[in-house]
Amino acid sequence: MYRTHTCGELNLQHTGTGVTLSGWVQRSRDHGGLTFIDLRDRYGITQLVFDLETDAALCREARKLGREYVIQAVGVVRERSNKNPRMSTGDIEIDVKSLNLLNASILPPFTIDDETDGGEELRMKFRYLDLRRNVMRKNMELRHRMAVEIRKYLDNQDFIEIETPDMIKSTPEGARDFVVPSRMNPGEFYALPQSPQIFKQLLMVAGYDKYFQIVKCFRDEDLRSDRQPEFTQVDCELSFAGQEDVLNTFEGLAKHLFLKIKNISFNGPFPRITFKDAMDRYGTDKPDIRFGMEITEITDHTRGRGFPVFDNSEFVGAICAENCATFTRKQTDQLTEFVKKPQIGAGGLVYLKYNKDETIKSSVDKFYDEPALRKWIQVAGARPGDLILILSGERVPTQEALSELRLELGRQLKLFNDEDFAPLWVVDFPLFEWDEDTGRFYAKHHPFTSPRHEDIPLLDTDPAAVCANAYDLVINGVEIGGGSVRIHDKNLQKKMFEKLGFTDEQADQQFGFLMEAFRYGAPPHAGVAFGFDRWVAVFAGCQSIRDVIAFPKNNSGRDLMIDSPSPLTAEQLKELRLKTDGP
Ligand code: AMO
Repeated sequence: MYRTHTCGELNLQHTGTGVTLSGWVQRSRDHGGLTFIDLRDRYGITQLVFDLETDAALCREARKLGREYVIQAVGVVRERSNKNPRMSTGDIEIDVKSLNLLNASILPPFTIDDETDGGEELRMKFRYLDLRRNVMRKNMELRHRMAVEIRKYLDNQDFIEIETPDMIKSTPEGARDFVVPSRMNPGEFYALPQSPQIFKQLLMVAGYDKYFQIVKCFRDEDLRSDRQPEFTQVDCELSFAGQEDVLNTFEGLAKHLFLKIKNISFNGPFPRITFKDAMDRYGTDKPDIRFGMEITEITDHTRGRGFPVFDNSEFVGAICAENCATFTRKQTDQLTEFVKKPQIGAGGLVYLKYNKDETIKSSVDKFYDEPALRKWIQVAGARPGDLILILSGERVPTQEALSELRLELGRQLKLFNDEDFAPLWVVDFPLFEWDEDTGRFYAKHHPFTSPRHEDIPLLDTDPAAVCANAYDLVINGVEIGGGSVRIHDKNLQKKMFEKLGFTDEQADQQFGFLMEAFRYGAPPHAGVAFGFDRWVAVFAGCQSIRDVIAFPKNNSGRDLMIDSPSPLTAEQLKELRLKTDGP
């Protein structure tokens, strides 16, 4: 038997018990005649003690053990004289009687501790060592517990988990596909699913009226801290259900997870906000509502004073930072630098300090007299002591820049707390998104999303004004999930394809099988998919989803540990009838 107990379970009640433990050497210390070893396994750390006086040979053996050696120790539990209240096993130690070296270890390239000296690249290359760290283990356990609770909740609601294939045909989620060449069908390729969207709709046609799956999805898109090329969705679909049914069912799931995992109960329904309100008030469709500082539009109050920047802007918007009128020149300069960063893209920042004594100081005093500036103060709802920050330009990019500035200030001023959670639904998304470069509409969600019934006539007259029956779940400024009511009528789907610029042949080639299926009695249906990695990261308080994925890719889409992607051999290429231009 390798062990009688784990390294996380022994306490004073076990005093005097003979035990066998197995694990890794976390660290060892020599104190005069005593050698202490912290033995670690998945469950915790237990202190082993070796006494030079009682067994010199054993103690010398123990002193030879290096970090990460795998050992087995047999001994007796005894009370510690020097207790450690921060450890679950901190009241006891093991008086070791015999030792068995199970395996040696070479020196790890970084310290395996909560605070590690290993940079991210190194930790990715030796991910199996990184995963030994307590913080990573906790993230993996959290991920597991969340998956278990999701399955329990959905099973209770009569959902069944059904697997769908990974080698399929292009799916319409708007990213590039990863493709797999087919040896048996030379010159032809499978696409990996960007989501199981089409299959879950086909499962509704098949009559499996409540489906879910915790499933890998693959998207070839630019990576960020909240995006991986392969990521996991909690993918769901319901028949004979509309938007309200979906929101109620999955608000239930969210509340279940909050309660079971974070021990937080929410009274009453999650707030709901329309896409338009979210953009107007927060400058983003995924607002962090843990704090206020909402955007106000002041365009009409800035015109005609000879300030060309504002006169030539479609939109002028302000946010008001409470009690920040005392910001120094250096601080406002830093904020200006922040908004001018290429990823934020503002041309500059205008400020107005509404001092505590009600005097005003602004960077555009030259153009705006006091009554004009007092109007901004009134519209922005500022109080004495506040700082108003103003950006201008085209409407949407300026709203988005204000959103970034708001979040930056929220962080700097500590207006929110990582242990607070503010979930909400964003609803009434536009059905289409106009793309300037290609001069055509794209589906904002995907082409199977149903327009709101009352907006169907607008499809022909004003497509940009059509709202979709689509919704997103947002928690703390992170888009956790999104879904929609689907089109189940063949003719409406055909019209949608038309509006998206698909010819009949293109629609038929890509989605003909779905249209065919819809001829056999498709039930009304709706669904949603949650980004599981993002949800776990938000619950874990991690900035990057990489921290909650056991073996993630880096920002160039590489797995540094197994060194992938990698070239194929000449034989493989030949067999697949592929030619490459090399790297
Ligand atoms: P959508 O494309 O909005 O919808 O994806 C659903 C959720 O998946 C997460 N997500 C990602 N997470 C990590 N890395 C990525 N690259 C990534 N891309 C998306 C987000 C997102 O909210 N089939 C539809 C759902 C439906 O209509 O039912 C879909 O996939 O959290």
